[in-house]
Amino acid sequence: MPRVTSAIPVAGRVAGFTYAIRNIVVEARKVEAAGKTIRYLNIGDPIPFGFETPPHMVEAVDRAMRDGHNGYAPSPGIESAREAVAAEFTSRGLPTTADRVIITSGASEGIELAMGALVNPGEEVLVPSPTYPLYTAVLAKIGAKIVYYRTDPAHGWMPDIDEIRSLLTPATRAIVVIDPNNPTGAIYPTSFRRALLDLVNSHNIVLLADEVYGDLAYDDPVPVPPIGSLDPDAPIISFSSLSKGYLAPGWRAGWLAVGRSPRLDDVMAALRKLADGRLCSPVPMQYAVTAALTGDRSHQIPLRKALRERADLTTARLNAIPGISCVAPVAAFYAMPKVDLPPGKTDEDYVLGLLRATGILCVHGSGFGTRPADGFFRVVFLASPSELADIYDTMAVFTAEYLRR
Ligand SMILES: Cc1ncc(COP(=O)(O)O)c(C=O)c1O
Repeated sequence: MPRVTSAIPVAGRVAGFTYAIRNIVVEARKVEAAGKTIRYLNIGDPIPFGFETPPHMVEAVDRAMRDGHNGYAPSPGIESAREAVAAEFTSRGLPTTADRVIITSGASEGIELAMGALVNPGEEVLVPSPTYPLYTAVLAKIGAKIVYYRTDPAHGWMPDIDEIRSLLTPATRAIVVIDPNNPTGAIYPTSFRRALLDLVNSHNIVLLADEVYGDLAYDDPVPVPPIGSLDPDAPIISFSSLSKGYLAPGWRAGWLAVGRSPRLDDVMAALRKLADGRLCSPVPMQYAVTAALTGDRSHQIPLRKALRERADLTTARLNAIPGISCVAPVAAFYAMPKVDLPPGKTDEDYVLGLLRATGILCVHGSGFGTRPADGFFRVVFLASPSELADIYDTMAVFTAEYLRR
Protein backbone atom coordinates (compact mmCIF):
# COMPACT_ATOMS: atom_id res chain seq x y z
CA MET A 1 0.00 0.00 0.00
CA PRO A 2 1.31 3.52 -0.77
CA ARG A 3 2.54 5.51 2.22
CA VAL A 4 0.30 8.47 3.16
CA THR A 5 2.26 11.69 3.60
CA SER A 6 -0.47 14.20 4.47
CA ALA A 7 -0.49 15.69 7.98
CA ILE A 8 -2.67 13.96 10.57
CA PRO A 9 -5.65 16.26 11.22
CA VAL A 10 -6.17 17.83 14.63
CA ALA A 11 -9.59 17.96 16.30
CA GLY A 12 -11.40 21.23 15.65
CA ARG A 13 -11.83 21.94 19.38
CA VAL A 14 -8.11 22.61 19.78
CA ALA A 15 -8.34 25.81 17.75
CA GLY A 16 -10.43 27.47 20.47
CA PHE A 17 -8.15 26.31 23.27
CA THR A 18 -5.85 29.25 23.87
CA TYR A 19 -3.83 29.97 26.99
CA ALA A 20 -1.96 33.19 26.34
CA ILE A 21 0.17 32.98 29.51
CA ARG A 22 2.11 30.08 28.07
CA ASN A 23 1.42 30.59 24.35
CA ILE A 24 3.39 33.85 24.43
CA VAL A 25 6.51 32.00 25.60
CA VAL A 26 6.96 30.82 21.99
CA GLU A 27 7.65 34.46 21.06
CA ALA A 28 9.95 34.90 24.06
CA ARG A 29 12.03 31.87 23.03
CA LYS A 30 12.58 33.42 19.59
CA VAL A 31 13.79 36.65 21.20
CA GLU A 32 15.98 34.62 23.58
CA ALA A 33 17.46 32.68 20.64
CA ALA A 34 18.46 36.02 19.14
CA GLY A 35 20.59 36.67 22.22
CA LYS A 36 18.38 38.73 24.52
CA THR A 37 17.86 37.88 28.19
CA ILE A 38 14.18 37.39 28.93
CA ARG A 39 12.61 38.59 32.16
CA TYR A 40 9.63 36.32 32.62
CA LEU A 41 6.75 38.27 34.13
CA ASN A 42 4.17 36.02 32.49
CA ILE A 43 3.59 33.09 34.86
CA GLY A 44 2.35 33.25 38.44
CA ASP A 45 4.95 30.87 39.87
CA PRO A 46 6.76 32.10 42.99
CA ILE A 47 9.45 29.37 42.95
CA PRO A 48 11.77 30.74 40.21
CA PHE A 49 11.83 34.04 42.14
CA GLY A 50 13.32 32.49 45.28
CA PHE A 51 10.20 31.78 47.34
CA GLU A 52 10.50 28.36 48.97
CA THR A 53 8.05 25.56 49.69
CA PRO A 54 7.70 25.13 53.49
CA PRO A 55 10.08 22.33 54.63
CA HIS A 56 7.42 20.40 56.54
CA MET A 57 5.46 20.01 53.30
CA VAL A 58 8.56 18.71 51.49
CA GLU A 59 9.12 16.29 54.38
CA ALA A 60 5.54 15.08 54.17
CA VAL A 61 5.93 14.20 50.48
CA ASP A 62 9.33 12.63 51.06
CA ARG A 63 7.98 10.57 53.96
CA ALA A 64 4.95 9.48 51.93
CA MET A 65 7.21 8.16 49.17
CA ARG A 66 9.53 6.40 51.64
CA ASP A 67 6.55 4.92 53.47
CA GLY A 68 5.48 3.35 50.22
CA HIS A 69 2.53 5.56 49.31
CA ASN A 70 3.41 5.19 45.67
CA GLY A 71 0.38 3.30 44.46
CA TYR A 72 -2.96 4.67 43.33
CA ALA A 73 -5.23 6.29 45.90
CA PRO A 74 -9.04 6.28 45.90
CA SER A 75 -10.13 8.66 43.09
CA PRO A 76 -11.49 11.40 45.39
CA GLY A 77 -8.20 11.41 47.31
CA ILE A 78 -6.76 10.04 50.54
CA GLU A 79 -9.00 10.33 53.57
CA SER A 80 -6.62 12.50 55.64
CA ALA A 81 -6.30 15.13 52.88
CA ARG A 82 -10.06 15.29 52.34
CA GLU A 83 -10.59 15.54 56.09
CA ALA A 84 -8.03 18.37 56.27
CA VAL A 85 -9.73 20.30 53.45
CA ALA A 86 -13.15 19.83 55.06
CA ALA A 87 -11.81 20.97 58.45
CA GLU A 88 -10.22 23.99 56.77
CA PHE A 89 -13.49 25.08 55.15
CA THR A 90 -15.36 24.43 58.38
CA SER A 91 -12.92 26.57 60.37
CA ARG A 92 -13.34 29.35 57.81
CA GLY A 93 -17.10 29.41 58.23
CA LEU A 94 -18.20 26.94 55.58
CA PRO A 95 -19.14 23.71 57.36
CA THR A 96 -18.46 20.78 55.07
CA THR A 97 -17.47 17.12 55.23
CA ALA A 98 -14.77 15.01 53.57
CA ASP A 99 -17.31 13.28 51.32
CA ARG A 100 -17.96 16.63 49.56
CA VAL A 101 -14.23 17.09 48.78
CA ILE A 102 -12.17 15.79 45.85
CA ILE A 103 -8.38 16.11 45.80
CA THR A 104 -7.36 17.20 42.31
CA SER A 105 -4.22 17.82 40.25
CA GLY A 106 -4.20 21.51 41.09
CA ALA A 107 -7.25 23.72 41.05
CA SER A 108 -6.97 23.40 37.25
CA GLU A 109 -8.17 19.81 37.25
CA GLY A 110 -11.01 20.67 39.61
CA ILE A 111 -12.15 23.41 37.24
CA GLU A 112 -12.04 21.06 34.28
CA LEU A 113 -13.92 18.32 36.19
CA ALA A 114 -16.60 20.78 37.27
CA MET A 115 -17.13 22.14 33.77
CA GLY A 116 -17.29 18.57 32.48
CA ALA A 117 -19.89 17.65 35.09
CA LEU A 118 -22.06 20.73 34.55
CA VAL A 119 -21.93 22.11 31.05
CA ASN A 120 -23.21 20.69 27.76
CA PRO A 121 -22.03 21.93 24.35
CA GLY A 122 -23.87 25.13 23.49
CA GLU A 123 -24.74 25.96 27.11
CA GLU A 124 -23.52 29.16 28.71
CA VAL A 125 -21.16 30.00 31.54
CA LEU A 126 -20.59 33.53 32.83
CA VAL A 127 -16.91 34.36 33.15
CA PRO A 128 -15.34 37.63 34.31
CA SER A 129 -13.52 39.90 31.90
CA PRO A 130 -10.63 39.90 32.41
CA THR A 131 -10.50 36.25 33.42
CA TYR A 132 -7.98 33.58 34.28
CA PRO A 133 -7.76 32.00 30.79
CA LEU A 134 -8.16 28.36 31.80
CA TYR A 135 -11.92 28.98 32.08
CA THR A 136 -12.34 30.15 28.52
CA ALA A 137 -9.97 27.47 27.22
CA VAL A 138 -11.91 24.64 28.89
CA LEU A 139 -15.27 26.06 27.81
CA ALA A 140 -14.02 26.35 24.24
CA LYS A 141 -12.94 22.70 24.38
CA ILE A 142 -16.39 21.64 25.59
CA GLY A 143 -18.05 23.73 22.89
CA ALA A 144 -19.87 25.81 25.51
CA LYS A 145 -20.64 29.51 25.11
CA ILE A 146 -18.49 31.94 27.07
CA VAL A 147 -20.47 34.95 28.30
CA TYR A 148 -18.27 37.67 29.75
CA TYR A 149 -19.32 39.94 32.59
CA ARG A 150 -17.28 43.08 32.96
CA THR A 151 -15.16 44.05 35.93
CA ASP A 152 -14.47 47.75 35.96
CA PRO A 153 -10.99 49.26 36.47
CA ALA A 154 -12.63 52.62 37.22
CA HIS A 155 -14.19 50.98 40.29
CA GLY A 156 -11.28 48.89 41.57
CA TRP A 157 -12.05 46.12 39.07
CA MET A 158 -15.46 45.45 40.64
CA PRO A 159 -18.13 43.43 38.82
CA ASP A 160 -21.68 44.79 38.49
CA ILE A 161 -24.35 42.46 39.84
CA ASP A 162 -27.05 44.06 37.64
CA GLU A 163 -25.02 43.31 34.54
CA ILE A 164 -24.47 39.73 35.69
CA ARG A 165 -28.21 39.32 36.31
CA SER A 166 -28.99 40.70 32.85
CA LEU A 167 -26.70 38.12 31.22
CA LEU A 168 -28.47 35.07 32.67
CA THR A 169 -30.52 33.05 30.19
CA PRO A 170 -32.24 29.66 30.39
CA ALA A 171 -29.01 28.21 28.91
CA THR A 172 -26.79 29.53 31.75
CA ARG A 173 -25.28 26.72 33.83
CA ALA A 174 -22.77 28.49 36.05
CA ILE A 175 -21.15 31.76 37.07
CA VAL A 176 -17.39 31.82 37.60
CA VAL A 177 -16.10 34.17 40.29
CA ILE A 178 -12.37 34.55 40.94
CA ASP A 179 -11.97 36.17 44.35
CA PRO A 180 -9.25 37.23 45.15
CA ASN A 181 -8.77 37.83 41.47
CA ASN A 182 -6.17 36.93 38.92
CA PRO A 183 -5.36 39.00 36.82
CA THR A 184 -6.62 42.13 38.63
CA GLY A 185 -5.58 41.56 42.26
CA ALA A 186 -9.07 42.66 43.42
CA ILE A 187 -11.11 41.30 46.33
CA TYR A 188 -14.88 41.65 46.19
CA PRO A 189 -16.92 43.19 49.01
CA THR A 190 -19.32 41.15 51.11
CA SER A 191 -22.30 42.97 49.57
CA PHE A 192 -21.34 41.77 46.08
CA ARG A 193 -20.63 38.25 47.32
CA ARG A 194 -24.05 38.11 48.99
CA ALA A 195 -25.79 39.39 45.87
CA LEU A 196 -24.04 36.73 43.81
CA LEU A 197 -25.19 34.00 46.21
CA ASP A 198 -28.75 35.38 46.04
CA LEU A 199 -28.57 35.12 42.27
CA VAL A 200 -27.47 31.48 42.19
CA ASN A 201 -29.94 30.62 44.95
CA SER A 202 -32.79 31.94 42.85
CA HIS A 203 -31.71 30.25 39.60
CA ASN A 204 -30.85 26.72 38.54
CA ILE A 205 -27.14 27.49 38.32
CA VAL A 206 -23.92 26.93 40.24
CA LEU A 207 -21.41 29.43 41.54
CA LEU A 208 -17.90 28.24 40.67
CA ALA A 209 -15.73 30.03 43.23
CA ASP A 210 -12.03 30.15 42.42
CA GLU A 211 -10.41 30.86 45.78
CA VAL A 212 -6.79 29.92 45.10
CA TYR A 213 -5.57 33.32 46.32
CA GLY A 214 -7.65 33.29 49.52
CA ASP A 215 -4.53 33.32 51.72
CA LEU A 216 -2.80 36.11 49.83
CA ALA A 217 -4.71 39.27 50.74
CA TYR A 218 -2.41 42.00 52.06
CA ASP A 219 -4.94 43.42 54.54
CA ASP A 220 -7.67 42.06 56.80
CA PRO A 221 -9.50 39.83 56.67
CA VAL A 222 -6.65 37.37 56.30
CA PRO A 223 -7.42 34.80 55.07
CA VAL A 224 -10.26 35.99 52.87
CA PRO A 225 -13.31 33.96 53.96
CA PRO A 226 -14.65 31.52 51.36
CA ILE A 227 -17.65 33.00 49.55
CA GLY A 228 -19.70 29.99 50.66
CA SER A 229 -19.24 30.98 54.31
CA LEU A 230 -21.92 33.63 53.73
CA ASP A 231 -24.42 30.93 52.81
CA PRO A 232 -23.32 27.31 53.28
CA ASP A 233 -26.53 26.09 51.62
CA ALA A 234 -25.94 27.89 48.32
CA PRO A 235 -25.17 25.87 45.16
CA ILE A 236 -21.45 26.51 45.11
CA ILE A 237 -18.26 24.65 44.21
CA SER A 238 -15.00 26.08 45.56
CA PHE A 239 -11.53 25.45 44.08
CA SER A 240 -8.14 25.90 45.67
CA SER A 241 -4.69 24.34 45.86
CA LEU A 242 -1.19 24.31 47.31
CA SER A 243 0.09 26.26 44.31
CA LYS A 244 -0.01 29.83 45.56
CA GLY A 245 -0.46 30.31 49.32
CA TYR A 246 1.55 27.15 50.04
CA LEU A 247 4.24 27.72 47.41
CA ALA A 248 4.11 24.33 45.68
CA PRO A 249 2.70 24.91 42.17
CA GLY A 250 4.72 22.12 40.57
CA TRP A 251 3.20 19.50 42.83
CA ARG A 252 -0.17 19.84 41.16
CA ALA A 253 -2.01 19.38 44.44
CA GLY A 254 -5.41 20.98 44.79
CA TRP A 255 -8.99 20.35 45.76
CA LEU A 256 -12.58 21.16 45.10
CA ALA A 257 -15.35 21.28 47.68
CA VAL A 258 -19.00 20.96 46.74
CA GLY A 259 -21.59 22.79 48.84
CA ARG A 260 -23.80 20.72 51.12
CA SER A 261 -27.04 21.67 49.34
CA PRO A 262 -28.92 18.52 48.21
CA ARG A 263 -29.43 20.42 44.95
CA LEU A 264 -25.78 19.51 44.27
CA ASP A 265 -25.99 15.78 45.06
CA ASP A 266 -26.22 14.75 41.40
CA VAL A 267 -23.34 17.06 40.53
CA MET A 268 -21.27 15.52 43.34
CA ALA A 269 -22.00 12.04 41.96
CA ALA A 270 -21.08 13.20 38.44
CA LEU A 271 -17.80 14.68 39.70
CA ARG A 272 -16.92 11.42 41.44
CA LYS A 273 -17.71 9.50 38.27
CA LEU A 274 -15.47 11.75 36.15
CA ALA A 275 -12.76 11.63 38.84
CA ASP A 276 -12.79 7.82 38.69
CA GLY A 277 -11.76 8.03 35.04
CA ARG A 278 -8.53 9.87 35.81
CA LEU A 279 -7.74 7.38 38.63
CA CYS A 280 -6.35 9.85 41.20
CA SER A 281 -4.17 12.92 41.59
CA PRO A 282 -0.45 12.41 42.47
CA VAL A 283 -0.50 10.52 45.76
CA PRO A 284 2.63 11.62 47.68
CA MET A 285 1.56 15.25 47.17
CA GLN A 286 -1.81 14.50 48.73
CA TYR A 287 0.10 13.95 51.99
CA ALA A 288 1.37 17.51 51.65
CA VAL A 289 -2.24 18.76 51.57
CA THR A 290 -2.70 17.30 55.05
CA ALA A 291 0.65 18.72 56.21
CA ALA A 292 -0.09 22.18 54.78
CA LEU A 293 -3.58 22.54 56.19
CA THR A 294 -2.87 21.07 59.62
CA GLY A 295 0.70 22.38 60.07
CA ASP A 296 2.71 25.57 60.41
CA ARG A 297 1.63 28.38 58.06
CA SER A 298 3.97 31.05 59.34
CA HIS A 299 5.60 31.25 55.88
CA GLN A 300 2.51 33.19 54.79
CA ILE A 301 3.36 36.19 56.97
CA PRO A 302 6.61 37.13 55.16
CA LEU A 303 5.02 36.06 51.88
CA ARG A 304 2.15 38.52 52.23
CA LYS A 305 4.58 41.23 53.34
CA ALA A 306 6.76 40.61 50.28
CA LEU A 307 3.73 40.74 48.01
CA ARG A 308 2.45 43.97 49.50
CA GLU A 309 5.86 45.62 49.07
CA ARG A 310 5.98 44.53 45.43
CA ALA A 311 2.35 45.55 44.82
CA ASP A 312 3.00 49.05 46.21
CA LEU A 313 6.15 49.42 44.16
CA THR A 314 4.42 48.16 41.02
CA THR A 315 1.45 50.51 41.39
CA ALA A 316 3.60 53.55 42.14
CA ARG A 317 6.15 52.91 39.41
CA LEU A 318 3.65 52.02 36.68
CA ASN A 319 1.42 55.00 37.46
CA ALA A 320 4.49 57.23 37.15
CA ILE A 321 4.96 56.20 33.50
CA PRO A 322 3.18 58.69 31.19
CA GLY A 323 0.47 56.82 29.24
CA ILE A 324 0.17 53.94 31.78
CA SER A 325 -2.36 53.66 34.60
CA CYS A 326 -2.64 50.86 37.12
CA VAL A 327 -5.26 49.98 39.74
CA ALA A 328 -3.57 48.97 43.01
CA PRO A 329 -3.89 45.22 43.64
CA VAL A 330 -4.97 44.20 47.17
CA ALA A 331 -4.14 40.47 46.93
CA ALA A 332 -2.05 37.94 44.99
CA PHE A 333 0.89 38.83 42.74
CA TYR A 334 -0.60 40.35 39.62
CA ALA A 335 -1.34 43.82 38.31
CA MET A 336 -3.34 44.69 35.22
CA PRO A 337 -2.08 48.08 34.00
CA LYS A 338 -3.42 49.87 30.94
CA VAL A 339 -1.41 51.67 28.30
CA ASP A 340 -3.16 54.37 26.27
CA LEU A 341 -2.55 52.88 22.85
CA PRO A 342 -2.25 54.96 19.71
CA PRO A 343 -5.17 54.38 17.28
CA GLY A 344 -4.92 51.09 15.40
CA LYS A 345 -2.55 49.46 17.92
CA THR A 346 -3.42 46.44 20.08
CA ASP A 347 -2.36 45.27 23.53
CA GLU A 348 -0.51 42.36 21.90
CA ASP A 349 1.37 44.76 19.65
CA TYR A 350 2.56 46.69 22.72
CA VAL A 351 3.49 43.53 24.66
CA LEU A 352 5.39 42.01 21.74
CA GLY A 353 7.12 45.34 21.09
CA LEU A 354 8.19 45.46 24.75
CA LEU A 355 9.41 41.87 24.60
CA ARG A 356 11.44 42.33 21.42
CA ALA A 357 12.96 45.64 22.49
CA THR A 358 13.69 44.86 26.16
CA GLY A 359 13.23 41.12 26.85
CA ILE A 360 10.45 41.91 29.37
CA LEU A 361 7.66 39.36 28.98
CA CYS A 362 4.15 40.38 30.08
CA VAL A 363 0.85 39.00 28.77
CA HIS A 364 -1.58 41.08 26.71
CA GLY A 365 -5.00 41.73 28.27
CA SER A 366 -6.85 40.19 25.34
CA GLY A 367 -5.33 36.87 26.46
CA PHE A 368 -7.58 37.34 29.52
CA GLY A 369 -10.61 38.52 27.56
CA THR A 370 -10.25 42.31 27.49
CA ARG A 371 -10.56 44.21 24.19
CA PRO A 372 -7.28 44.41 22.24
CA ALA A 373 -7.61 48.19 21.72
CA ASP A 374 -8.09 48.79 25.46
CA GLY A 375 -4.38 48.34 26.06
CA PHE A 376 -4.39 46.19 29.19
CA PHE A 377 -1.52 43.87 30.00
CA ARG A 378 -0.72 41.69 33.01
CA VAL A 379 2.41 41.94 35.10
CA VAL A 380 3.49 39.21 37.54
CA PHE A 381 5.37 41.09 40.27
CA LEU A 382 7.22 38.26 42.04
CA ALA A 383 10.75 39.46 41.15
CA SER A 384 12.76 41.25 43.83
CA PRO A 385 11.92 44.93 44.41
CA SER A 386 15.27 46.02 42.92
CA GLU A 387 14.72 43.91 39.81
CA LEU A 388 11.16 45.19 39.51
CA ALA A 389 12.38 48.79 39.81
CA ASP A 390 14.84 48.13 37.01
CA ILE A 391 12.13 46.50 34.90
CA TYR A 392 9.76 49.45 35.35
CA ASP A 393 12.57 51.89 34.43
CA THR A 394 13.12 49.95 31.22
CA MET A 395 9.38 49.80 30.58
CA ALA A 396 9.16 53.60 31.00
CA VAL A 397 11.84 54.19 28.37
CA PHE A 398 10.23 51.75 25.95
CA THR A 399 6.72 53.16 26.49
CA ALA A 400 7.83 56.76 25.90
CA GLU A 401 9.40 55.66 22.63
CA TYR A 402 6.41 53.50 21.66
CA LEU A 403 3.87 56.24 22.26
CA ARG A 404 5.97 58.83 20.42
CA ARG A 405 5.91 56.78 17.20
C1 LIG B 1 -7.29 32.15 39.32
C2 LIG B 1 -6.54 30.86 39.16
N1 LIG B 1 -7.21 29.71 39.22
C3 LIG B 1 -6.60 28.53 39.06
C4 LIG B 1 -5.24 28.47 38.83
C5 LIG B 1 -4.62 27.13 38.63
O1 LIG B 1 -3.89 26.79 39.75
P1 LIG B 1 -3.37 25.32 40.06
O2 LIG B 1 -1.89 25.40 40.01
O3 LIG B 1 -3.89 25.02 41.42
O4 LIG B 1 -3.91 24.40 39.03
C6 LIG B 1 -4.49 29.65 38.75
C7 LIG B 1 -3.04 29.61 38.45
O5 LIG B 1 -2.41 30.61 38.17
C8 LIG B 1 -5.16 30.88 38.92
O6 LIG B 1 -4.51 32.04 38.86
